[in-house]
Amino acid sequence: MVFPEYRPRRLRKNETLRALIRETHLSPSQLIYPVFIAAGKKKKEEIPSMPGVFRLSVDNLAKEAKECMELGVNSMILFGIPEEKDAMGTGAHAKDGIIQRGIRELKNKAPDLNIITDVCLCEYTDHGHCGCLIGDTVDNDSTLEILSKIALSHAEAGADMVAPSDMMDGRVAEIRGILDENNFDMVPIMSYAVKYASAFYGPFRDAANCSPQFGDRKSYQMDPANSREALREATLDVDEGADILMVKPAVAYLDIISRLKDEFDLPVAAYHVSGEYAMIKAAAEKGWIDGDKVMAETLLSIKRAGADIILTYFAKDMARLLQ
Ligand code: PBG
Repeated sequence: MVFPEYRPRRLRKNETLRALIRETHLSPSQLIYPVFIAAGKKKKEEIPSMPGVFRLSVDNLAKEAKECMELGVNSMILFGIPEEKDAMGTGAHAKDGIIQRGIRELKNKAPDLNIITDVCLCEYTDHGHCGCLIGDTVDNDSTLEILSKIALSHAEAGADMVAPSDMMDGRVAEIRGILDENNFDMVPIMSYAVKYASAFYGPFRDAANCSPQFGDRKSYQMDPANSREALREATLDVDEGADILMVKPAVAYLDIISRLKDEFDLPVAAYHVSGEYAMIKAAAEKGWIDGDKVMAETLLSIKRAGADIILTYFAKDMARLLQ
């Protein structure tokens, strides 16, 4: 079939035809909006490296949730910024911790919201690592017990789904176990199965004040050079009982999203992370790109690569654009 028998331009002639054959669509119902919860009252503090994203106090959460849901974005993932940190990150599983209070407030005031919680230690430890230390080493197995406590405390407060992001080995099984023992067998686990040691998390670490105080996260987060290892990581999480597999970051790892989609039959999520958001915002502010169009094209590329679900700071902006 050679030119002029086949003319691809025939089906690009107008928007009706283009829409007719469009292969990929974005829907607000498959976007998850990340929210940072901070101490205090009536707080709405813009994060300098993430324009349009705020640290919110608990009393401002319901308003945010309603805004999301009116746009069709029915899921939020919550991150806590505690007032105090310690070596073991005990604030992460405190009954009246910042996240636990946030969850209860949202369950009360926005009961239809799907509340997802990030399960990790780095926002709560004074050393900023995602696990507890023995000497200068992040110790895997003693961290598992704390992570499962955190997940349980979130479920008890009313979380609808938990999302471990620490990258310790074996944590999905540990969390599944404690949830099941406590009658939370219907709370799904969205595992950050394939999380790379990425420089794209910079603005998030400013936002949550959770940079490691020494060293880096390379002994637990994955090497950006590896893709076969991603399959191994995902296989482990499937075997341990994960319900959704996440890849993070998204745009620099579209090949990984695509491989996971091909190899596994669980839903695939992708986290379009803070640095990816900040780059688009910054270039748009300078007038170098059209921010809305680049946002839409970027999120579409993540979906096209195979993500069913996208976690993105653009969730509300994208939903507005789709209206
Ligand atoms: C916690 C966590 C991080 C992010 C999500 N959960 C930070 C990190 O691993 O350093 C980053 C999200 C983003 O950059 O938007 N471990």
